[in-house]
Amino acid sequence: MTESNTPEQLAKNVCEECLRKTKIGYKRDGAFFSKKLKGINHLEVGNSAVIDNPITIFLEWCYYQYTRLRNAWNRLMLKLFPRVEICYGKRMDSALVGSISFAQKADELVPIHHMPVAFWSRTWWGQWRKLSEGITQTDGSFRLPFDLNFARRMSVRKLVFEIHQPSHVFINEGENKLVYKIFKSVRIAKSDLIGMEYNLRNIQLFYWEYRTDTALPRAVIKDHDKDAPEYYAQGRTDALRQQFIPIELTKVKHLAQIKKDPGKINLQLIQADYPENLTVCIENALPGHTRGDQWFGERMMNGMNRAYLMPDKNEHGYYWLKYFGVGHYESNEEYCFPDVAVKFYLKENGLPTPTAIQLTGPLNAYNRDPWQKHVFTPEDGDNWMHAKRIARVNGGLCTEVDEHFAGTHTNTEQYAIAAFRNLRLNPLASLLFPHLKEVVLVNHAADKILLQDYIPKASALTRDGLLQRCKDTMGLLDWKGWTCPKPLSDAHTSAKAENLFWQLTEDYVRWFINNNLADIKKYWYELYCFSEDLVSHSVPVFLSEINWDSLDEKERKRYEAMKEYLSGQFSFNFDSKRETRNGLLRTITPLTLSKEFPEQDEATAIDDVVKACTYMIFVATYLHTWANEHQYEDIGEVLYNCLGLRFGEKESGVLAPETDLSIAPDLTRSTQMMWFSNFLSRTEYGFITKDEEKDINPYYSNLLLAHKEEFLSYGVNVEEIESRTNI
Ligand SMILES: [Fe+2]
Repeated sequence: MTESNTPEQLAKNVCEECLRKTKIGYKRDGAFFSKKLKGINHLEVGNSAVIDNPITIFLEWCYYQYTRLRNAWNRLMLKLFPRVEICYGKRMDSALVGSISFAQKADELVPIHHMPVAFWSRTWWGQWRKLSEGITQTDGSFRLPFDLNFARRMSVRKLVFEIHQPSHVFINEGENKLVYKIFKSVRIAKSDLIGMEYNLRNIQLFYWEYRTDTALPRAVIKDHDKDAPEYYAQGRTDALRQQFIPIELTKVKHLAQIKKDPGKINLQLIQADYPENLTVCIENALPGHTRGDQWFGERMMNGMNRAYLMPDKNEHGYYWLKYFGVGHYESNEEYCFPDVAVKFYLKENGLPTPTAIQLTGPLNAYNRDPWQKHVFTPEDGDNWMHAKRIARVNGGLCTEVDEHFAGTHTNTEQYAIAAFRNLRLNPLASLLFPHLKEVVLVNHAADKILLQDYIPKASALTRDGLLQRCKDTMGLLDWKGWTCPKPLSDAHTSAKAENLFWQLTEDYVRWFINNNLADIKKYWYELYCFSEDLVSHSVPVFLSEINWDSLDEKERKRYEAMKEYLSGQFSFNFDSKRETRNGLLRTITPLTLSKEFPEQDEATAIDDVVKACTYMIFVATYLHTWANEHQYEDIGEVLYNCLGLRFGEKESGVLAPETDLSIAPDLTRSTQMMWFSNFLSRTEYGFITKDEEKDINPYYSNLLLAHKEEFLSYGVNVEEIESRTNI
């Protein structure tokens, strides 16, 4: 038998072919009367707001034409009556004064620094004249000197005071530029300008406010369509619409069938209605392969989970993978979610193979002892298969909730809020904004469809349990101690790709910071405020709030095991020096505690900024893309993997084969799960190297593209890494 037709090589060929065949692509298409989605914010696990009535589609088209005309009119007006950036007037004998602060109750005394402000007049025949401009000071105050006589001329029809906010970044000749747009306009009556000063007093802005109804650092979004701190790019919405509609229609059809005649639909029909994913494709060619030990180990190491393998303390070459289950989180009675510990050893080819699986916690509806332990090995026949499935399913839920949602979505959001609140004149704004945008919008949508409507009905965790778990995971996420996992072998390609991406991102960030060092130092105060917001709104360190003395022996040991394993999984150093704010030990290490650039400690200060910025970009791009895009491969087949197995009514509980549908997700949950894994993996817009919105520095793209082949050798197409977390 030659090397090219050994069973291993044949299996490898099948897997590679299936990976290629089931890859998600995106072609711009869209017939006029095809069904349309109202928008990303209208997604529902029930029926999303799909527009399918031809009259409604026609009216939508009319509205679209109206907005196009309106925009064209605005562009024409701007051409006819340009806003020339010159200040008019000779004798600056009067001034507009005032201050700007945040509006939310908890924030109302917090000034908004470095907001561009301007004073404009407009004549009866439409001409704009700038009378004065400036920025708010660190205490939020502003003073705009202007020529009183010029402002009060007969020809002046109206006077406007404007506050501007950063709108977007664009790259001009290799440099990142920040573009501003009007955030708020205040009309001023001409007759009110009578003396040396006109006081606008304190203007309070609802601007990137923190929510006060959750322990997580989240942004206030009053109305995602009309009153959000930012909005999706049109191209992003269009791409999702086209990808999404066929999947939505499939789900709608299933939900209708389940309601009308559940006897005529089953799980196999549901699965077959969705596009073939990786595991379905492999199973069709090589039955049993995706349920085998080899595939199990390979996917745990290099699949969606990219699991942390903790070396065994006693046996060299052996490792532990742990998924902590329901534990102290609020849960329901329907789904199983035990603690799972899988022991692996690395084979000659460098891939892990499982040797034992320990399950701690209830496995059926009758014995609810949370400390019961079951150990399975490959010699256990069918039970070994069942134990692997339980481990895989726990991995699915832990990866979705801990790694994907908390680890990338809400983790990025906390940096995004602090950045948009505080960075403006500091060049770090134009470095970070392209990667931090839109995350608050997608998280807002996830609050309802994932955390409220779906996961509590498809897994053991209730909504409160989920939020508590997210808070705990956030208590393990800090830029300061982060390191990428060390590859355990040549076959540990997920770690190799991750290290390469980190290194290239760090190279780009250092290049950018060196090129903009003078202004980064000059506007260090913004970084100080960013850091303060970040630190004081970060959640408490994991387990820092519990009273260890009140725990019994078993609980204490479990928490210690969690600390040990999770500190490795999230590279979190519990012993690092951290700040206490409002009586709580905060998770995130400050970037700086100094309002001015610490010249005496320049190297450390710059290294910290490089590390923190690299971390933000890395999490928002690579880390999120990894979890997001692999969902389709690893949780795209209901019986292979899902977010929870039900206890069912038999004594065997979850120790049962895939043919026992009483422990599988029910039909509604099954179609919803397929809907999720399909649409979440179909971003297909907003890639770093494609740079659809011209806001990614070519230096970064070129660095990544120069290593395209190396990335491909690790199974990563670097052209498919998204530039921000927006799905
Ligand atoms: Fe995502």
